[in-house]
Amino acid sequence: MNCREQLNQQDFTLEPALLNDWHVVAASDEVTEGKLIPSTLFERDLVIWRDSGGQAHVWEDLCIHRGARLSKGFIASDRVVCPYHGWNYDGTAQCRLIPASPGETPMKKAKAISHHVQEAYGFIWTSLGEPEHDIPDFPEWNDDSYKKVVCGPYRFKSGYRAVENFIDPTHFPFVHAGVNGLMDDPDPIGAYDVWEENGALASSEVQVTQPYGDPRNVPVTAFYAYKCLRPLVAYFKKRVLITDPDRAHEGNPNDRFCTYLTAQQVSETESIVRICCAMNFNPMPTDDEVRQRQDLVYAQDSDIVDTQRPERIPTDLRQELHHRTDLLGMKYRSWLQKMGVQYGTV
Ligand code: FES
Ligand SMILES: [Fe+2]
Repeated sequence: MNCREQLNQQDFTLEPALLNDWHVVAASDEVTEGKLIPSTLFERDLVIWRDSGGQAHVWEDLCIHRGARLSKGFIASDRVVCPYHGWNYDGTAQCRLIPASPGETPMKKAKAISHHVQEAYGFIWTSLGEPEHDIPDFPEWNDDSYKKVVCGPYRFKSGYRAVENFIDPTHFPFVHAGVNGLMDDPDPIGAYDVWEENGALASSEVQVTQPYGDPRNVPVTAFYAYKCLRPLVAYFKKRVLITDPDRAHEGNPNDRFCTYLTAQQVSETESIVRICCAMNFNPMPTDDEVRQRQDLVYAQDSDIVDTQRPERIPTDLRQELHHRTDLLGMKYRSWLQKMGVQYGTV
């Protein structure tokens, strides 16, 4: 058994649906050349770094020699230097120098434990196992008519509860009163459909009224179409119509605001949400304007979502009370159960 297999069997066995999936562990711009960034995924401590060629690396935060934390070391000449005895690991994770025996070629087995890594949509993704899927598509990312802004990180307890909240428009009038909904006049939610498509859950549009429903600070009627792409990745495309007739000329029937959400499950009850927003309307808000609004909305969300008990999401529908307006959340829970997701669930 090699080190990677051993680690994958340590403490608990992570189910294949999560082990062999891609997970975001950092935003791309957090990981700059010359810096070692510690990160934790499913209680596994990782170290992330970027070499001078721009390639990002995600390794176990562990030196194969005596188990010291590589993240406490440093980078010199594109090599990670362990803080304990100074072993040098190059970009292939191979140890190239043992300072106590400088003339010797380190044995082949002297390798840091590296994980699969990809960079997409302003995020660094890793897989601790063998990826069974591609990173889910974010269609607006390569469309130049959309401005993209990475926002977060936002701390939540359960990443699944954060995803479920993200796909739930019935909380808008209460949690985001005066922003994404009206507490005195909440929208009745009409029937909508949910179906499975290419391994993802998709919904038809759900209509809501939003007094300041987008970064232009203009009242809109919004139509949300959601997708649960993976257990911890979700997306919505929002069609926006300006409701104030005096400002209707500022909008366009093609106006869209999309959000791609990822959750990094740090432990069973701690997670980090990062999102990328994409919008195509004019005038385009500044990056700061987009972030300020998202910071407000996600703080309002976590303030309530983190009070939900149990902290681990129940995937058996008999454990909480559901209503037809929760259809997408219900399907999400059953879908997690069908995939065999156990970590962070009850
Ligand atoms: S523990 Fe890393 S060099 Fe010894
Ligand atoms: Fe919300």
